[in-house]
Amino acid sequence: MADIDKVKVFIADEKHLKYVDEINNTIQAASEERGTGIARRTYDYIATKMNEGKAVIALDGEKFAGFCYIESWGHNKHVANSGLIVVPEYRGQGLAKRIKKKAFELSRLRFPDAKIFGLTTGLAVMKINSELGYKPVTFSELTEDQDFWKGCQSCVNYDILMRTQRTKCLCTAMLFDPAWEKKKNGFAQKERGKIIPFRKWLNSGQTSGYASPLKTKLKLFKRQ
Ligand SMILES: CC(C)(COP(=O)(O)OP(=O)(O)OC[C@H]1O[C@@H](n2cnc3c(N)ncnc32)[C@H](O)[C@@H]1OP(=O)(O)O)[C@@H](O)C(=O)NCCC(=O)NCCS
Repeated sequence: MADIDKVKVFIADEKHLKYVDEINNTIQAASEERGTGIARRTYDYIATKMNEGKAVIALDGEKFAGFCYIESWGHNKHVANSGLIVVPEYRGQGLAKRIKKKAFELSRLRFPDAKIFGLTTGLAVMKINSELGYKPVTFSELTEDQDFWKGCQSCVNYDILMRTQRTKCLCTAMLFDPAWEKKKNGFAQKERGKIIPFRKWLNSGQTSGYASPLKTKLKLFKRQ
């Protein structure tokens, strides 16, 4: 098994163009094996992703180990992390997790207000997405951008997607909405705003007049 500690994960740039064919061949081999028929990307497509700083590559020295890219849809309202691939000899050692984490950070940096989403049938990707804060959603929460859905045309299950008017298929949709975080942070701030004056009041010594057992409880709380 390959030594995973030597593998480094980078945001790809023009230095990495020499890996494009190998990336494409590895994606194609994996999709044939899984029988999903996901289309091979063109050389130009992957090369443009690298030139635009929208791809992540993992290298073991000079050897290609893994890849993923980001794509924005619907006027940057949604971002998908796609084309995730790990070379077989590097699998099962947390490399996909590292690549996806980098792609997630890159997506948030480049498109801070976009919802980040993915479609997958794979348990590994579901696990990774959950750890990053994605939640399973219905297809109604995904982008309306026709070009995104055109990407499903080469999948063997495309007829299911069409039969259900694009409301469901065999893939699970998962999404991360940055608004959830804002809401959570806003709530935490609001709670902090309540706790600080309460602590001040407790420490002010003006708590007399409050009957036990509340008073005892307050004393205990004060001591902590
Ligand atoms: C899917 C793939 C990217 C996973 O890469 P990897 O480097 O082996 O994944 P990791 O080691 O980072 O594993 C991440 C998690 O998934 C689990 N996992 C990995 N492979 C798995 C598998 N085949 N089945 C079930 N769980 C799996 C790991 O145990 C780990 O879970 P944990 O956090 O509970 O320990 C890799 O197998 C691959 O390239 N497959 C072919 C292409 C593909 O399917 N791409 C995804 C398209 S949506």
